[in-house]
Amino acid sequence: MSAFARGSLLGIEHLQAEEITGLLQLARRMQRGQPRPVLRGKTVGLVFYEASTRTRTSFEMAAKKLGALTLLVHASGSSIEKGESLLDTGYTLRAVGCDALVFRHPNAGAPHLIAAHLDVPIINAGDGMHEHPSQALLDAYTILQHMKDLRGKHMAIVGDIYHSRVARSNIHLLSKFGVQLTLCGPPEFVPETAATLAKGLRIARHLEEAIRGADVIMLLRVQKERLAEMQFDVGEYIARYQLTSARLRLAKPGALVMHPGPIIRGMELSSEVADAPQAVIREEVRNGVLVRMAILARALGKSK
Ligand code: NCD
Repeated sequence: MSAFARGSLLGIEHLQAEEITGLLQLARRMQRGQPRPVLRGKTVGLVFYEASTRTRTSFEMAAKKLGALTLLVHASGSSIEKGESLLDTGYTLRAVGCDALVFRHPNAGAPHLIAAHLDVPIINAGDGMHEHPSQALLDAYTILQHMKDLRGKHMAIVGDIYHSRVARSNIHLLSKFGVQLTLCGPPEFVPETAATLAKGLRIARHLEEAIRGADVIMLLRVQKERLAEMQFDVGEYIARYQLTSARLRLAKPGALVMHPGPIIRGMELSSEVADAPQAVIREEVRNGVLVRMAILARALGKSK
């Protein structure tokens, strides 16, 4: 089944490779020309039950560049605080006049529930530990701006993969396009079962082993509270897994360094690496606007 039923984008897992390529091509067309106001007269609701900087602002920017109105709803300050259910919030936004809803929620499957009940496209902007499809699309877009093809490229994903919806969506997408993936981190963050997520996934416990010869290194945020939960010393994590300039030299020359943000300098990467020319972290954010324009145009049937 396509996750694009009724224009929704709920995850990468069930998308066909052609649908992904179609979205990336549409984003490229958005980059080339002055955006046309194809969503004039439409309203996009941005419903964020969780904190967000990049995802929220770039969906808002994308909707506005295409001429849509946006309505922003945060959990705090809305009736969600008073105990209104997820579905009732969805029905309310539909009744107000939203033509599409962008949803971020701490529970996996929340956007799917809304999509099953509402007659408007639902875009998943991150659901719990499950998926973050627009992030994986903007990451693929960013890699393809630097490399002709994804097939056969070596990529290391380093950090708290277990809790990361960004990692999960990226693994689904990149595996469909023949990227050779190595997941790296301690067993609590990269359990052996992660290898069952997709065929051909490698697991490395040492950063050096994971990034040697890599074309792309994707780092993920590591929360101090999570390290504390698993009784892993912060200093030890930094000593073993922080990407420093010295370690980066093990990767292919000019290897891309990616991070979905928010980055914690001095934790998963050194400040020097964060600012290195090969770090494309801010480029990812810029491309996020284009990719989200493509997602919204497609969702509302204005992709021609
Ligand atoms: C991520 C998220 O919220 O899933 N950020 C993002 O959307 N770019 C990653 C994170 O919070 O660590």
